[in-house]
Amino acid sequence: MPAPLVLGIETSCDETSAAVLRAPRTVLGHVILSQDVHALYGGVVPEIASRQHLTAIDDVVAGALREAGVGLHDIDVIAATAGPGLIGALLVGLTYAKALAFALERPLVAVHHMEAHLFATELEHESAHPPFIGLLVSGGHTMLVWVPEWGTYELLGETRDDAAGEAFDKVAKILGLGYPGGPAIQRVAADGDPRAFAFPRPMLSGGQTPDDPDYFAFSFSGLKTSVLTRVRELEQSGELDARRADVAASFQAAVVDVLVAKVMRAVEARQCNRVVLGGGVAASRALRDSLTAALGGGELYAPSARLATDNAAMIARAGLFHYEQGDLAPLSVTARADLPFPGLARLTAVGV
Ligand code: KG4
Ligand code: ZN
Repeated sequence: MPAPLVLGIETSCDETSAAVLRAPRTVLGHVILSQDVHALYGGVVPEIASRQHLTAIDDVVAGALREAGVGLHDIDVIAATAGPGLIGALLVGLTYAKALAFALERPLVAVHHMEAHLFATELEHESAHPPFIGLLVSGGHTMLVWVPEWGTYELLGETRDDAAGEAFDKVAKILGLGYPGGPAIQRVAADGDPRAFAFPRPMLSGGQTPDDPDYFAFSFSGLKTSVLTRVRELEQSGELDARRADVAASFQAAVVDVLVAKVMRAVEARQCNRVVLGGGVAASRALRDSLTAALGGGELYAPSARLATDNAAMIARAGLFHYEQGDLAPLSVTARADLPFPGLARLTAVGV
C-alpha cells in the first residue's frame, strides 16, 4: 500500500493555503495565497479575511491537487486548522474540510495551528525532530517549549502581553513602514546601527534565577512603548527620517537578544542543544544568525521563509502525525479561536 496522501488546509489568519503531502514528508503540491488587501489597513481585518478565504478556497485546493498531479479521490486523510486564529477565518477552512471528509468518506484531523508550526521545519530537515527546544514566534504567539517527543510539550515560557511578531508589526506601523512589519523592519534595519539606541531587554534584567517565574517568560509591550517614545522625540526634532534605520536595527536587536537569551536558558535547563524555530518571526535573519552564534556546536533548525509563515504543508504534516496516532476528529468538531495546544503541560520545575 502506498504511503498515505494528506490534504492540508490552512485559513486561520490571512493566508488561504492548501497542500498535498505524501507521508512522511514529501510535499507534492502547495499553494499559499496571501491576502494583500490587509496592507491597506495596517493589519488583518477579520471580516475581510473570512470573505477572502471563502472566495479563494476552491481554487487554492484545486491548485494544490493539480500541482500534486492527484485528484480528490486519491486523498486518504483531510487535515485542517481548527484553531487558534480568527474564528470566521478558521470556520471557512474547517467547514470546507468537513464537507470534503463527509463527501469522500475520509478521516478528518483537526490541527492546532501552533503545533503545526513546530512540524514545519521537519518537512525540510529530517533531523529537526525531538528531543528539541522549540521557539514559536508568530504574529499571535510567543512560546518556548521543551519537546521530548512529538505530542508531548512542556511550556517553559510565553509572552505576558504582545507576541514577538506583533511587536514587529506595531513598531513597523510606528515607523511608517508597511504590514507585515517583520520583513519591513529587517529590510530597513540592514542600513542601521543596532547599538544606536539602548532599548530595554524586557524580562532579562535584574539577576533572574531559574526559580523566578519570569525566567523563561517574554514581554514586548514595554519595548514597543519605549520605541514609540523615542520615535516621537525624533519626529519633534526632525531627525526621524535620518534615524529610522537605526531605530529599526536597535529594536530588532533588542527582540533578538531576549529571544536568544531565553532559548539559551532552556538549552541549559533541559540539557539539549538542538533548537527548532517556528512561526513567521523564524524568518528573521538577525534571529537565526544570533542563535547560531549562541549555540556554537549545537543544532539550529529553521524553516525556509515559505514554511516559516502560515502554510498548509505544516498542517498536513501535523495532521499526518495525529492520524497515525488514531487521533481523528468527528464531523461535529468545531473551530475554536482559543483551541488548547494538544499535549501541552505547563512548566512545573525548572530543574537546572
Ligand atoms: O506565523 P505567521 O505567518 O502568522 C501567525 O500565525 O501569526 O507570523 C506572522 C508574523 C508577523 O507578525 C510578521 O511581522 C512576522 O511574522 N515576520 C517577521 C519576519 N517575517 C515575518 N518578523 C521578524 N522578521 C522577519 N523577517
Ligand atoms: Zn502562524
